[in-house]
Amino acid sequence: MTPKPTGETTMATVDLVLPHHRYTVHIGPGLLSELGQRVRATAPHQRAALIVDDKIAGTHGPAAEASLQSAGYDPLVTTMTSGEDHKNLSTVEALYHKLLDERLERRSPVVALGGGIVGDTGGFVAASYLRGVPFVQCPTTLLAMVDASVGGKVGVNMPQGKNLIGAFHQPVLVVIDTDTLKTLSRRDFVCGLAECVKHGVIRDPELFDWIDANIQPILDLDPGTLVELVQRNVRIKAAVVMEDEKEAGVRAHLNFGHTFAHAIEAGTEYGRYLHGEAVSLGMVAAARLGVELGRCEGGLVDQLVALLNKIGLPTTTDGLPETDKLMDIMRSDKKVKAGRVRLILPDKLGAVSIVDDTPDDVVAKSWDSIRG
Ligand code: GLY
Repeated sequence: MTPKPTGETTMATVDLVLPHHRYTVHIGPGLLSELGQRVRATAPHQRAALIVDDKIAGTHGPAAEASLQSAGYDPLVTTMTSGEDHKNLSTVEALYHKLLDERLERRSPVVALGGGIVGDTGGFVAASYLRGVPFVQCPTTLLAMVDASVGGKVGVNMPQGKNLIGAFHQPVLVVIDTDTLKTLSRRDFVCGLAECVKHGVIRDPELFDWIDANIQPILDLDPGTLVELVQRNVRIKAAVVMEDEKEAGVRAHLNFGHTFAHAIEAGTEYGRYLHGEAVSLGMVAAARLGVELGRCEGGLVDQLVALLNKIGLPTTTDGLPETDKLMDIMRSDKKVKAGRVRLILPDKLGAVSIVDDTPDDVVAKSWDSIRG
């Protein structure tokens, strides 16, 4: 696939074929106006619920609502406050009440429009309302487009930790309007690129090089380049999910950098770093750990750090808590297996392994490697 010249846009699709589900991810500029007709082709009914991220309720909500109406739906439109604090069972319960009061039925689709928080929470509502209704993901952040909206992981946080309650509930359809990326802040957009770099490291050296070669049109939000960026990344996410839907093995590779990232986010009370920034730091720490253990060449860290810096993502920081605190949080991560921290470490660009027996002192050293 060669990059398209600036200005030339196109639509793309990626199909997911799973043992019990099959769905298509539609990617393109302006697709929000076609949301209704695409939902109707997949989940026809008189009613639908549209759960809208409050951050984009004024910008993209009306277009999505109008599109559903013009396709013959009488949608229940409700907003949800984004932010990890609202991704909880109280929000889910409030949404259940709205759906029940409006008598939404088993065949009424639930459409989540917004970032990953709304997708995860709306998806959990769809997974459990009347024992499960059709779910449509309509992500508006790069992070949600290339990761959370594909693959069926839905759920909410508990006071004890993030994403501890949830389900696998595959969407029936994913509609990605790449024009919505134009309304993201630069910081939020760049954060989504951390997951794209992650996909390159775990599985696709060609993608890694493509991001490197196309960083300027990506940051300039060139329409054709954005479609290709999202398509390349959704393809990788889809391939991983098709190999291992319920995370029995290879799907865990998507957690490269994330055990470190979750400790960074929790250790700083989710206030200092956005998720993509924490993932960027976490990938550097994990790659350095891989080198320290003799699993990969030092050149990989150099390449990774150079690309992350070029994108504008952090690779060192002076804002981390004490290493002991970070190590304690890592040990309480739900991915701990038999008391040992489970990490995804690179073997080379494009290949990673699950490693369960990393000595604590070596992990501690990798924390120091990202302190600036
Ligand atoms: N975001 C990781 C996964 O979907 O498995």
